[in-house]
Amino acid sequence: SWTTGNVIEEQVAAIRAQVGDKRAICGLSGGVDSAVAAALVQKAIGSQLTCVYVDHGLMRKGETEQVEKDFVAATGANLVVVDAQERFLDALAGVSDPETKRKIIGREFIRVFEQAQLEILQEEGPEVAFLVQGTLYPDIVESGGGTGTANIKSHHNVGGLPDDIEFQLVEPLRQLFKDEVRMVGQELGLPEEIVQRQPFPGPGLGIRIVGEVTKERLDLLREADAIAREELTAAGLDREIWQCPVVLLADVRSVGVQGDGRTYGHPIVLRPVSSEDAMTADWSRLPYEVLAKISTRITNEVADVNRVVLDVTSKPPGTIEWE
Ligand code: XMP
Repeated sequence: SWTTGNVIEEQVAAIRAQVGDKRAICGLSGGVDSAVAAALVQKAIGSQLTCVYVDHGLMRKGETEQVEKDFVAATGANLVVVDAQERFLDALAGVSDPETKRKIIGREFIRVFEQAQLEILQEEGPEVAFLVQGTLYPDIVESGGGTGTANIKSHHNVGGLPDDIEFQLVEPLRQLFKDEVRMVGQELGLPEEIVQRQPFPGPGLGIRIVGEVTKERLDLLREADAIAREELTAAGLDREIWQCPVVLLADVRSVGVQGDGRTYGHPIVLRPVSSEDAMTADWSRLPYEVLAKISTRITNEVADVNRVVLDVTSKPPGTIEWE
C-alpha cells in the first residue's frame, strides 16, 4: 500500500543504486518540488550531493533565508548560494516589457547556474554525473515522457572543461502528484513554509512590478507582499487560495492624502485567485475584513504606496500574473 514511508524507502534505494559513488548537483528554486527532490537525494547519498541556489534578488521576503537556513538545517545538505542580485538588476535596468524581462531573467539564471556547476565540477572528488530534478508525474504526462539526460551547454570557458557536459537525470518525484510531494517533504522534516508553499513564478517579483525593476521597487513590493501573506495566513485562507500575486504598478501614480499632507504614490494590486491547476482561475471572494486589514496595513506601513486595489478578473480573460 502507498505510504510516504514506503515511497521514501523505495526512492532512497533507487537513488543509491543509480548514483553509486558518483556525485550529483541539484538546483534549488525555493519551490516545493526542488526542495523535496533535493531532500530525498540528500537522504540517499548525503555529501555526494551539492545543491545550488541562485539568489537573483527577485524572491519574496524571507524566502532566500528559508533555503539558506531552514532547508540546510532540516537536511544537512551542502549548499552553494550564488549572490547574483546585482547581476540581475544590471541586466534588467531600463527594461519594462514583460516578455523581455522574462527572457533576461531566464537567460541570466541559466548563465549563473551553469557557472556554479562548472565550479563544482572542478572540485576535487568523484565524478559529477547526475543532475537532480523535481519533475512530477503531471509534468511527465504533459510533456509526453521524459528524456533521462540533460545537455548543459557552456558559454563560458572555465579552464579545460568540455564545452558540453552531459548529466544523467535523477528524478525521484516522477511518480508523484503535488499533494504526495508535500507529504513526502513533511515526512522528511522540511519546514512547513517550504512544503506548503503556494506556486510562485520562476521570474519572481520581476514580473510583479509593472514597469522597470529596481532595487527600491523590489524592496517596496516585498514589504507589501509580506503584509498580504501574513494577513491571509492569519485569516486561515492559505488553503482556500491558490495563490495571491501582489503587484506594484510602478509606472502609475495617484493622488492621496495622509496625515495633513497630499501624497502622490503608487497603487498595489491584490490578485487572489482560486484554481485547480492554474489553467483557469476565478478571483477569490475574500472576506471584506481581511481585505480591509491588508489595505490599511499596506498603506500605513509601506512608504510610497497610497492605494490598494483588488483585481476581480477571472482567467480567462486575465492571466494570474500581470506580466
Ligand atoms: P498565468 O499568469 O499564465 O500563470 O496565469 C499560471 C501559473 O504559472 C505561474 N507562472 C510561472 N511559473 N515560471 C514559473 O515557474 C514562470 O515563468 C511563470 N509564469 C507564471 C503563475 O504564478 C501561475 O501559478
